[in-house]
Amino acid sequence: MINPMHGVDAVRHGPVIDARKKDRTRASVLVIEDEPAVRRLLVHLLTSQGYAVHEVGDGASAMAVVRKRHPDLILLDVGLPDMDGFEVCRTIKGSTDTRLIPVVMVTGLHDREARIRGIEAGADDFLAKPFDQAELLARVASLVRIKQYTDDLESAECIIQSLALTVEARDPYTQGHCERLALYASALGRELGLQEDEIAALERGGYLHDVGKIGIPDSILQKPSRLTTEEFDFMKTHTFIGERLCGQLRTLVSVRPIVRSHHERRDGNGYPDGLRGDEIPLLAQIISIVDEYDAITTTRPYRAALPAEHAYSELTAEVASGIHSANLVDAFIAVAKRGGLDVIDSAQVGHMSEHGSSPTPGSI
Ligand SMILES: [Fe+2]
Repeated sequence: MINPMHGVDAVRHGPVIDARKKDRTRASVLVIEDEPAVRRLLVHLLTSQGYAVHEVGDGASAMAVVRKRHPDLILLDVGLPDMDGFEVCRTIKGSTDTRLIPVVMVTGLHDREARIRGIEAGADDFLAKPFDQAELLARVASLVRIKQYTDDLESAECIIQSLALTVEARDPYTQGHCERLALYASALGRELGLQEDEIAALERGGYLHDVGKIGIPDSILQKPSRLTTEEFDFMKTHTFIGERLCGQLRTLVSVRPIVRSHHERRDGNGYPDGLRGDEIPLLAQIISIVDEYDAITTTRPYRAALPAEHAYSELTAEVASGIHSANLVDAFIAVAKRGGLDVIDSAQVGHMSEHGSSPTPGSI
């Protein structure tokens, strides 16, 4: 064990973090500790292992550094002069901007109550004073590695989401379409009592369902007149191009069926696979309904936005003709009539021609 009061000589040797990681992104650690001797010890130990270390001695300064520097890991002492460590931890974990930063709380060796309060505050791990050097470095290295994987996943998903928004930006009439679909689909998912992970997939699916259009040329995507059969066949490929773009990202596993199957119809006349009835993934059916609702209720190059009542009639007619599920459309109309979609103004923007079996823009 290392007693912090023994000074820095006691902590010079320890495991070295992966040099490739250091080269790629020198991991940063924020030490929040009010006792200068302990803080110096931690800073020395971590610096000697290649981490970029920042140090503060109180909660208010800590929050300023966290928001400014977004460290890869935080070592947080329980007892601070202003806010206590639990409050600092709760603040970090309560903000979407900082909640993924791992927080290791430093407590007394047998302080069970502090650990329980730390868990409640959202701490990721605990270290007991006096520190064991190898344990401290192993925990820091492990949490930093997980944080870097999370960052990688987040970047990959951000890139795909940026592609989807790039698609949207290629046509001024589609502005806001992805955001509305995410909101409408999650509202319908909640109405149906779906699980939170399915709601999250619907939100992502709202943004990503048409990401494959990145592979469709503008000459087809923005063609103001009827698409030829060849052009429409090309347009259909946006479904599996999009599915491929989502690749093997684990965070997008539940979104891939939405991307591939959001143009299927329950009568088997959709694309790309001609699935029938409940062969079509439920989440894809939901996106299909809200996609159509948005297409009807937004302004297009060739007509003004139509009222919601018109969209309800169209969707109901399409239940009768075998395109959509009656239960899903009924639930959607119910939530819409209750004002559950009134989150944003949907009467300003438009949509592209890639629906159903008709390639005519005026038919959607
Ligand atoms: Fe689509």
